[in-house]
Amino acid sequence: MAIVATHELTQRFGTTTALDRLTLEIPAGAVYGFIGPNGAGKTTTMRILTTLLRPTAGEARVAGFEVTRDPAAVRAAVGFMPDTFGVYEGLRAWEYLDFFGRSFRVAAQRRTPLIDELLELVGLAHKREAPVMSLSRGMQQRLSLARAMIHDPQLLILDEPASGLDPRARIELRELLKELGAMGKTIMISSHILTELAEMCSHIAIIERGRLLADGPVERIMRSVQAHRTLDIRVMGDVAAAQAWLHAHPAIRAVEPAPDDGAGRGVLVVDFDGDDRAQVALVRAMIDGGLNVLSISETRNNLEEIFMRITEATP
Ligand SMILES: Nc1ncnc2c1ncn2[C@@H]1O[C@H](COP(=O)(O)OP(=O)(O)OP(=O)(O)O)[C@@H](O)[C@H]1O
Ligand SMILES: [Mg+2]
Repeated sequence: MAIVATHELTQRFGTTTALDRLTLEIPAGAVYGFIGPNGAGKTTTMRILTTLLRPTAGEARVAGFEVTRDPAAVRAAVGFMPDTFGVYEGLRAWEYLDFFGRSFRVAAQRRTPLIDELLELVGLAHKREAPVMSLSRGMQQRLSLARAMIHDPQLLILDEPASGLDPRARIELRELLKELGAMGKTIMISSHILTELAEMCSHIAIIERGRLLADGPVERIMRSVQAHRTLDIRVMGDVAAAQAWLHAHPAIRAVEPAPDDGAGRGVLVVDFDGDDRAQVALVRAMIDGGLNVLSISETRNNLEEIFMRITEATP
């Protein structure tokens, strides 16, 4: 079941079209990576899904409720972590959460234990009494995440939660999201740092100029672009002959000695057009063809490259 479904969602700001008939679905339980360059429309989409912005046209449903017709029900189902923290002079960490707990009408006797549980969950129990403006950026991000969970929403929408975090804090965030996933939450998370999302997301959507370029389970997105891959093939003996043989193979577009191959390691970089099955056939053919193959390694396309390739392909 889809917890988020948009249909031809369109957002215009004056002459700017921020979202252009965006149709997407987020399956319940997914960790959904929402990827796109600056100005692609990620924040705009998230603001619509959290009822902060009224779309110009189209529909968006969250947990079955349409955002413009049933905003209160949508707000109960979703927790939002915006990309900026805001200014909260004079509030302590626990007071900040208490304030949002009250606005979501979390009962008083439930609030106190809940605030402590959430501070514990995001690793801020020791900062309970600290003024929020004294917290480091990473700590504010985590507090903001705790705030998004104060009313126990099914869906968490996190706008660039990893931006500005140090490597260690990023790893901690990833662990935390894993934990939330295990708790059964659906998570939508935006970023332009794609490699970072690859490991933690179950689904990926790529958006550019308000349009969806690709979406689906992360493996499918990877596979669809990976039908084209780069192989490092190391051979023993006559490298030039091996190169000529490979060059003649119909599924091979290009073959060149590795650029760093001054030491005569015999590595050829092959631009191969085929899937796993075709690669197996290539390996067999090389052996049958008498090539002295020492090793073959596939240079994995990471998400960054995939993203570049997909966005390049659009006019
Ligand atoms: N309130 C607004 N008024 C006018 N234009 C806006 C407004 N909000 C967003 N836009 C425009 O809509 C487009 C999409 O912006 P959006 O903030 O959704 O992008 P984004 O994908 O979140 O980018 P980033 O990665 O930089 O956060 C941009 O061209 C932006 O200038
Ligand atoms: Mg944004």
